[in-house]
Amino acid sequence: MKAIELRNKYLNFFKRHGHKIIPSAPLIPENDPSVLFNTAGMQPLVPYLLGEKHPEGTRLTDYQKCIRTNDIDEVGDNRHLTYFEMLGNWSLGDYFKEESIKMSYEFLTKELEIPAEKLSVTCFGGNETLGKDEEAAKYWQEAGIPKERIYFLKDNWWIAGETGPCGSDTEIFYDTGKPKCSPECNPDCDCGKYVEIWNNVFMEFFKDEKGNITPLEQKNVDTGLGLERVNMLLQGKQTPYETEIFAPIMEKLEELQKVDEIESRRIVAEHLRSSMMIISDGGRPSNIDRGYVLRRLIRRMIRHLNKLQINLEELPKLIELNIENLKEMYPELVENKETIKNVIIEERDKFQKTLVHGEREFTKQMNKLKEEGKDTLIGEIIFKLYVTFVFKPEVTVYLERENGLISAKNEFEKLYKEHQALSRQGSEQKFKGGLADQNEKTISYHTATHLLHQALKIVLGDHVKQSGSNITEERLRFDFTHPQKMTPEEIKKVEDLVNEQIQRDLKVTCEEMSYDEAKESGAIGLFTNKYGDRVKVYTIGDFSKEICGGPHVEHTGDMGTFKIKKEESSSSGIRRIKAVLIK
Ligand code: SER
Repeated sequence: MKAIELRNKYLNFFKRHGHKIIPSAPLIPENDPSVLFNTAGMQPLVPYLLGEKHPEGTRLTDYQKCIRTNDIDEVGDNRHLTYFEMLGNWSLGDYFKEESIKMSYEFLTKELEIPAEKLSVTCFGGNETLGKDEEAAKYWQEAGIPKERIYFLKDNWWIAGETGPCGSDTEIFYDTGKPKCSPECNPDCDCGKYVEIWNNVFMEFFKDEKGNITPLEQKNVDTGLGLERVNMLLQGKQTPYETEIFAPIMEKLEELQKVDEIESRRIVAEHLRSSMMIISDGGRPSNIDRGYVLRRLIRRMIRHLNKLQINLEELPKLIELNIENLKEMYPELVENKETIKNVIIEERDKFQKTLVHGEREFTKQMNKLKEEGKDTLIGEIIFKLYVTFVFKPEVTVYLERENGLISAKNEFEKLYKEHQALSRQGSEQKFKGGLADQNEKTISYHTATHLLHQALKIVLGDHVKQSGSNITEERLRFDFTHPQKMTPEEIKKVEDLVNEQIQRDLKVTCEEMSYDEAKESGAIGLFTNKYGDRVKVYTIGDFSKEICGGPHVEHTGDMGTFKIKKEESSSSGIRRIKAVLIK
């Protein structure tokens, strides 16, 4: 089965079950400046989930074009995609858990003929106010999933960002047949045995800015099934690049390349598709927000074409081939063919000019600083050029070619890593739909994040750098650079150190200063990419000093007991901690 057949099967199945098929909304949200792109099927439907009447009724089904760029640097591996399609069925105050679960099971086992024993599910494990979702589990059992393959997880709660419609969810996993990585291995494990294919959210609540959760006027169902992933699994393929969505472009790249580099081929194929879809929906490259995302996608693609040593004059042909291959799924690509070509070619030419201009500027600055004997400073200057010109690998190669610029290269790499972490955080914030809401709980978690950051540096070493964080009322998530799994002893030490600071009831103070002063003062953390900016530095007693926007608690004493719930790999060289504060 091809992806388009899977999509049609899905839409028709739900049509037979009384749903109206509605078209995908464009990738660029209409009238919603708070998000860059549609990142989930529910986003364009929020008003209807909140109670507004949908002209097509209370049962809808669709495919939604989505872009998620938080993991853009992971693209090239065997699974991350920036563009993907989410199939969904919607109940707007119509059916609820029972029918939703029954239909999902029927679709997977009857329509797609997935053997039932390949399916496992997870249900909401309960929290302080809501019990375990025994009801969903019961319906799964009635449908045909035995108890042993039904798992209860506390994380099974879905909300797009920080506020809005939300509820518990039940997630469906496909067993790839790989051996269990440990006796405890279950769908919550990311070893690759279990792959999430579908998420059914029972949206019956609303979370406001203060963190209050109240019942919605109607009980909704929002489901999302990842098309590329299910397509890949049904075809028994290991990566989406082997399916018909990417195979023709991958083959063409292989034919044209002079250097054999599979990651680069994947990056080119993936970013080309995303760029085409964004341009087709009206996006244009620029230096801010969604335009910058598109610019990065195109420029990253071009860099990897260069890496493969494919002549950039081949680009129009590659675009045409991709449109030809995808036109059945996205007829709009044919309509917008000339625009897509023009925009990408124009950006290619701009990028090439930038490289020439950047290189000239680079040499000029470098010679000047060399004369003055300021080797490390070159790193900073180069970094500024990188921010303006977006050509990191070229910079690195340049610095490597030049003799005696080791410290410049190190300085540049350091600044680059910090910048990466910051932009990742920035985009996480954007995708959250504005800044996280602030209440007592989230503020405490925010302060706990600083304590954790410093404790990790003390216990593991100074190489620990924050590479992302996310806070909800229930927990904090903290990503940081560290090459290996933490030992139980290290985890315990970090917990103890954080709890010790909480017990010391340290005073938290905030000062405003210039970035340079902040750096001088020994503050850790991210810095803005605009030089000369004033930043806020939060100091927690004698323990932590970090650049941050705040807000924070005034004293640490009331935060509760800090406990690390999970320590896992986030991506290569990056660990992820989930931790809670228990009062
Ligand atoms: N909103 C849920 C998700 O994005 C289900 O569609 O996973």
